[in-house]
Amino acid sequence: MKIGIIFGTRPEVIKVAPVYMKALEMGLEVRAIATAQHRQMMDMMLKVFNITPDYDMNIMTQNQSLNTVAAKVITYLDEYITKEKFDWIFVQGDTTTAMASAIAAFHRGAKVGHIEAGLRSGDLYDPFPEEMNRQVIDRVAELMFAPTEISAYNLESEGFSKERIKITGNTVVDALNFISEKFDLDKAREKVIDVRDYVLVTLHRRENWGTKMAAILEGIKRFSLEYNIPIVFPVHLNPKVREVVNPILKEYKNAILLEPVDYITFLSLLKGAKIVASDSGGVQEEAPSFSKYVVVCRNTTERPELIQSGFGTLAGTTAESVYKALVNGVSVNLTNLKNPFGDGNAAGKILNAII
Ligand code: UD1
Ligand code: UDP
Repeated sequence: MKIGIIFGTRPEVIKVAPVYMKALEMGLEVRAIATAQHRQMMDMMLKVFNITPDYDMNIMTQNQSLNTVAAKVITYLDEYITKEKFDWIFVQGDTTTAMASAIAAFHRGAKVGHIEAGLRSGDLYDPFPEEMNRQVIDRVAELMFAPTEISAYNLESEGFSKERIKITGNTVVDALNFISEKFDLDKAREKVIDVRDYVLVTLHRRENWGTKMAAILEGIKRFSLEYNIPIVFPVHLNPKVREVVNPILKEYKNAILLEPVDYITFLSLLKGAKIVASDSGGVQEEAPSFSKYVVVCRNTTERPELIQSGFGTLAGTTAESVYKALVNGVSVNLTNLKNPFGDGNAAGKILNAII
């Protein structure tokens, strides 16, 4: 049985790394296939997990379009599948890398395994294009690895048979446990910042680009000013993000803007934060492991588990709503809440399911 594991962006590397490392440990025949949809941010994560791709499509261009990425991924993966005759292609999440790879695998008769299946916001345009990508991938997947009961329920409601759905937990918990056990996070944080109890910010979603992102930042800045809480923000490399962030925060003296940081450093920043404001999917899933509250700067969510478990709120995308959510969020008591995203054994469950 030969498995190809695909990744292209920062979060995909983090979330497939445990599966790839576990497959090697189990003696399975596995190839690591990089699209490099994110060149620098993908490489940064590969280094942390010590993974060298067997194939690297190297497709990224500045301000790339969705169709260019999809077309290149399908073309390259077609070539690799033909050559390697993979039985399984594993894709993760909802990126264009994952969606295009699932289609290429389906066309060539390789079975698709979808890691983090069944997430749904219910709005095809939010997040765009991820909500469509998720649905397309699940449609062609042989096995769907749902991280939670809710994601499994979403799939059953769409008519998929129970035999094809496995509840595994989210592999991000495996990844963060691996890093937390191996590295001293407090030391890692001290290498990059000398403040504590800040609001940790990440923003990048396509549907927030422009005025919504500006409004979110104004809300976070008001909170920071009124409560004298520093902002720590590793800024995504996407130029569309930077053109909004820089004019609002670059000159603000209580904001520390960083280049994207490696995964060890990011987890260390999470550990030292007072509260988190983010539109990231992965960050929402990591925060409960560090007992942090997340103000989700979006209008929809595919991760209702965060809110139901008490670890966060869906704040919307206006300055006022984000400000208010931060004010309420800092005083929420998080003791005794249960992490809804898994127990850190997802990779083993995924591989056992295909064996
Ligand atoms: C992509 C995913 C999104 C995921 C996010 C994680 C799609 C459609 N979107 O969004 O689901 O949440 O990654 O961060 O698949 N860039 C660099 N270097 C890098 C990375 C990005 O310069 O290492 C710049 C490039 O100009 C690139 C642009 O950012 O063209 C956008 O990258 P892209 O992958 O198209 O979209 P993201 O917004 O990063
Ligand atoms: N992350 C990181 N360095 C950073 C910012 C984020 O390692 O500077 C990690 C974070 O821990 C999480 C993932 O990247 O696991 C989230 O990536 P992103 O927000 O880009 O994508 P999403 O999860 O929204 O798809």
